[in-house]
Amino acid sequence: MKQTTRFGLKYTFADRELKQSREGPGQPKPAEEAAARTQQAAAEPGFAGERQESMQQVLHELDSLIGLSQVKELVREIRAFVEICRRRERFQLKNESLVLHMIFKGNPGTGKTTVARILGKMLAELKVLPKGHLVEVERADLVGEYIGHTAQKCREQLKKAMGGILFIDEAYSLARGGAKDFGKEAIDTLVKAMEDHKNEIILILAGYEKEMENFLSTNPGLRSRFPIHLHFPDYSCDELMEIAQLMVRERQYQLSVGAAEYLRQYLQQQVDANRPNFSNARLVRNLIERAIRRQALRLVDRRIYTRDDLIMLLREDFVLPAGEEAGIYIWQA
Ligand SMILES: Nc1ncnc2c1ncn2[C@@H]1O[C@H](COP(=O)(O)OP(=O)(O)O)[C@@H](O)[C@H]1O
Ligand SMILES: [Mg+2]
Repeated sequence: MKQTTRFGLKYTFADRELKQSREGPGQPKPAEEAAARTQQAAAEPGFAGERQESMQQVLHELDSLIGLSQVKELVREIRAFVEICRRRERFQLKNESLVLHMIFKGNPGTGKTTVARILGKMLAELKVLPKGHLVEVERADLVGEYIGHTAQKCREQLKKAMGGILFIDEAYSLARGGAKDFGKEAIDTLVKAMEDHKNEIILILAGYEKEMENFLSTNPGLRSRFPIHLHFPDYSCDELMEIAQLMVRERQYQLSVGAAEYLRQYLQQQVDANRPNFSNARLVRNLIERAIRRQALRLVDRRIYTRDDLIMLLREDFVLPAGEEAGIYIWQA
């Protein structure tokens, strides 16, 4: 049976069973029918059955992110909404149309890409998206240099993202250069694809809050196509420290007391400086990865070392030589 809605495919089998049970010998009494339906709803995949475990994993991944309480709540809302739409559909109740294109607003390193990746997995578990993978692109991946080039580039990226999420970072830059710029053509191509493949792809436009607001107000047609807006606030110093502890734990390292003290002090300074390009959790990741390399350098020529030596990151691994900014010796962004 062909999939006609986001929920169609998943339910055809169960629906057929339900239909057969209704058409079976003798007409079921209304009470029996109601009981059958209740049972059917209880056996709903997503909240029960084999899918539950992977959904639990996805939710666990979401929960283990530090802070982001509003984002987490909205993601849970989306999940509940999809589930309820699906249950209502089974009782032939009317549903709001499920448009899940989103705008993610926030500074760099606030978790936008991370949350988009988790959302993709969640929507795949919910069978809203066939695959749920994330394809992250920016202006250069979409906008070409000559006539026809832009459409071709967009088509390529859309094809890659089909079945999942197309995540456009710094999306406002598509509007750079005004009406004659090929960016406009990219926007038009994307909008058309959203309509043509509405059950196969979700678009997320991401970028700095102010720029995104500006972008949406100069492209009023876009706003209504992206009904879900998520705001990613800057992290506090405490949250950045929690993120740091999480990151070192994941990598099987540990911060010494001195290292933690130094890092907290450094991050507090950065938070207080309130620079527009402050890169939040990404800065933390860079500092840790750099400290890991410096620890390696500190230990590599030693003949005697313990397991603890290999685990522990010391203050001296973090301390930056005077005048050197974190991020200069970064291997990967
Ligand atoms: N709340 C968080 N908890 C734990 N790690 C986080 C959190 N937010 C971001 N990170 C980590 O920080 C890095 C940058 O996050 P990312 O999602 O790429 O940010 P953005 O897309 O907003 O620039 C990633 O390594 C990510 O895992
Ligand atoms: Mg990102």
